Formats: sequence, structure tokens, C-alpha cells
Amino acid sequence: MTHKVVVTRAVFDDVIERLRGCATVADNPSDVPLSPEALADRAADADAIVCALTDRIDATLLDRCPRLKVVSNIAVGYNNIDLAACTARGVMATNTPGVLDETTADFAWALMLGAARRVTEAERYLREGRWTGWQLQQLLGTDVHHATLGIIGMGRIGQAIARRALGFSMQVLYCNRSRLDEATERQLNARWVGRDELLAASDFVVLMVPYSEATHHMIGAPELARMKPGAVLVNTARGGVVDDRALVEALRSRTIAAAGIDVFEGEPAFNRDFLALDNVVLAPHIASSSTATRRAMAMLAARNALAALAGERPPNLLNSDVADRA
Ligand code: DGY
Repeated sequence: MTHKVVVTRAVFDDVIERLRGCATVADNPSDVPLSPEALADRAADADAIVCALTDRIDATLLDRCPRLKVVSNIAVGYNNIDLAACTARGVMATNTPGVLDETTADFAWALMLGAARRVTEAERYLREGRWTGWQLQQLLGTDVHHATLGIIGMGRIGQAIARRALGFSMQVLYCNRSRLDEATERQLNARWVGRDELLAASDFVVLMVPYSEATHHMIGAPELARMKPGAVLVNTARGGVVDDRALVEALRSRTIAAAGIDVFEGEPAFNRDFLALDNVVLAPHIASSSTATRRAMAMLAARNALAALAGERPPNLLNSDVADRA
């Protein structure tokens, strides 16, 4: 009997073709997010779900999908998946690490530079016809070169962000559960410090941690108050890592100078008070969104799903218990 794979969102045609080579595919070319009910109906007889971070994969869904062997997330973050519920039901869960590191690091830098040099604010000024001529003190920004960059979460993406800082002659501080080896620290010109020291000493703070109960509101009013008044905060991690209400307040009161935000609490809804602020650069969760990278993520998710269906260990298995038990 052929396997059935549900693909919850629109993906590239070659990815669907790859899946069709081995399975029956129920895809979603319209890209309208499926409600939990619609996803459960569609996946009731599925062997695999290739899903996105917009899909909640929880016990209720899993209980309605008795044939399911694998849930393959098209994302490196997987806080949309209840991993324990998958493991308890013998369902493998996978993600897409590695293929998006450089692209995400590029975008963290786009937000850093954009917020420091007021790029979107300047564009609005121009487009609104407010520019009457050159002025010495027009739209003064913050220098990025030779500044101190603090990275919270020094995994692969954090390190890719730090590598780029070498070209800007920056000092790098980082905070991570475990320390990097000495050679990597030397290569990146990076120093391991505590979070409070990082917040107090950095001109730019970039967040690159996964979302979990432990990182929920990791940056709130007390942490923002510890930062330099001229500092810029960049969140390319996950909504909920920052207390967005506290951030709005800190930007409004100039507790910090600016922010660049790609992810929001409760997205796609977000705190509309951000819209009234000039000192924030806003993006709709697109840090990994280059054509090559989004394709690579979807293709890797397909490979993970097909490996599980072929009885192999998927390359990016998150709950190895399930494969070990099989
Ligand atoms: C990820 O892979 O977790 C990204 O947030 C997706 O864009």
C-alpha cells in the first residue's frame, strides 16, 4: 500500500514531485493555513505530515491520526510540535537545521544595520515627500563598526552572525548554555559572559535562542532597563522570547534606541503599538526567506519524511527514542 503524505502549506513544485515519487500527496497549493479540524480530517489516514511552524501538532491531532509515523517540520524551530506527545505515540518528529543558518544570519544583520542606520524610517521620510534637502544632522544613526555585539544563543546561527561581525571590526560577547571551544572563540573574537554583563555592555543585542518555557519573556522590562540607552535589540529568534509590550514601552521611552523585529508574540497578530514607533524595523518572520533557503528547507523536510516512511532514521530526527524503539 502506498504511503500518504499531507503537506500543510504551499511548497515548491519540485518538493511535491519528490514526495510524489514515493507516496500519495495531499498538498495545499492555495497556502491557506489549515484549521486544526481541517488538518485532522486531512491527516486522518496519513503516514506523514510535512508541516510548517504555523501548524500546531499536539496530542489532540495525533490521536486522530492513527497511521502517522512522522511529522516533518519545515523549520529549525519546533515549538509548534508537542515532542513528548509525538514520542509517547511512537511518531517521529524532524526539523531542518543547518540549511538556513547563513540566510538567517544575513537577515539579522539586515535588521541590525536597518535599525542602527534608520533605513526604513529614512525611506518613509523620502516617500512621504518630507525631504527638502541635505542637512548635517539629518536622521543621525548609530555606528555599527567597532561597536560591541552581544549574541544570546550561540548555536550555528549565532556563530554565523558573529562571523559577519569580524568584517565590521566588532567585539563580540555571547551568552550560551555551554561555552564554545577556545579555537572557535578566538576565530570569532568572541567572549563568553553572563546575560547581565552582555546586556549592560553591548551596543547591539541579537537574540537567537529557541522558544521554550525557559526562554519565555527572557527579555522583558528589567532586561531592557539593563541595556545601554543607545543600544539596538534584534529578535530573529521566536515571538515570546521578548515581552513585546515591554519592548514597545522601552522604545517609546528611549530606554533603548531602536529594535529590529522579525518575530512576534502571537504572530501573525502583533502588538499594533509598534506601528506608531519610528525607531523599530519590522518584518513578517522572513529571516530565512531566500528562494534557495526556503527551497532547501522544504526539500530537507521532504527527505526527512521519506526516510522515516522507508524505515530509515531521518537525518534530522528530534526524538531519537522513537527510532531506537522501532
Ligand atoms: C525556523 O526555521 O524556525 C524559522 O523561524 C522559519 O522561518
